[in-house]
Amino acid sequence: MSLQGRDLLSIHDLSTQELNDIMALSKKLKQQLKQGQEHHLLKGKTLGMIFEKSSTRTRVSFEVGMWQLGGQALFLSSRDLQIGRGEPVKDTARVLSRFLDGIMIRTYSHAEVEELAEYASIPVVNGLTDLMHPCQALTDIFTAMEHKGDLKGRKMAFIGDGNNMVHSLMHACAKVGMDIAVASPMGYLPDPLMVAEAQADAQMTGSKITIVQDPFAAAKDADVLYTDVWSSMGQEAEQIIRQKAFAGFQINSAIMDVARPDAIVLHCLPAHRGEEITEEVFEGPQSAVFDQAENRLHVQKAIIALLLAK
Ligand code: CP
Ligand code: NVA
Repeated sequence: MSLQGRDLLSIHDLSTQELNDIMALSKKLKQQLKQGQEHHLLKGKTLGMIFEKSSTRTRVSFEVGMWQLGGQALFLSSRDLQIGRGEPVKDTARVLSRFLDGIMIRTYSHAEVEELAEYASIPVVNGLTDLMHPCQALTDIFTAMEHKGDLKGRKMAFIGDGNNMVHSLMHACAKVGMDIAVASPMGYLPDPLMVAEAQADAQMTGSKITIVQDPFAAAKDADVLYTDVWSSMGQEAEQIIRQKAFAGFQINSAIMDVARPDAIVLHCLPAHRGEEITEEVFEGPQSAVFDQAENRLHVQKAIIALLLAK
């Protein structure tokens, strides 16, 4: 298996075939779990999970997933690790590589994760940085496929902050040939380098990546509507200024009206009702956010099974 021993830092590093392999194994593991079939693909293996930021879904889904695969996960808060007292990342990487079979890390700086991966001799999985959230976006593609089948020619609309979430969604859509239209206010557009990477991949699959300022233009005829918080972790001090800048960049019933009538609504969660999404849409019949949250478990199990398997 080509993913064996590799890191997963960015979806841009995956081939379309590798992404499809992750989707196929996710589906199989989900079925096996629902049918009560044992699937100990990582028997006796250990995954260290370094968290420098809060988490509900990522922590619990990786921990439970590792257990369901016959292995064990260790929760490593940076507050307790020596890394929090200044031990270099490159030393931490080499020490943890002597104990563990894989590392999942959630932190601020993407460069820190790249350094960890460079010095670790075991696979490193990006559990969110300020730049990307690949495990979430792979899950979102899986969820969209469950609802819509083949995503070629389908359209995702992302309305809100040009943040880590949209970067990984653009990467993922480009790999599977799904169109994505992003609407963000001026000053909060996605990182041009991330857009360029996605556009390069999109040329191979025929997907269209467009960045606009009008949320209605983005949402028009969309099959999947997506949003995320206006202030990400680490941006709490900007909350007031962001609330002003993002007014109008909300998934609400007016936006739903221009999307396809059978469109689904996704949100990586946690959600701020009344900001990026209304209560009505969040709790409405087109919202698939809790299916999406559940799928973190199945998709991440597939990711670690493919990376850590011998
Ligand atoms: N969506 C997501 O990554 O959730 P957590 O922050 O709870 O892990
Ligand atoms: N953009 C959000 C995603 C949380 C899962 C953040 O980084 O806080």
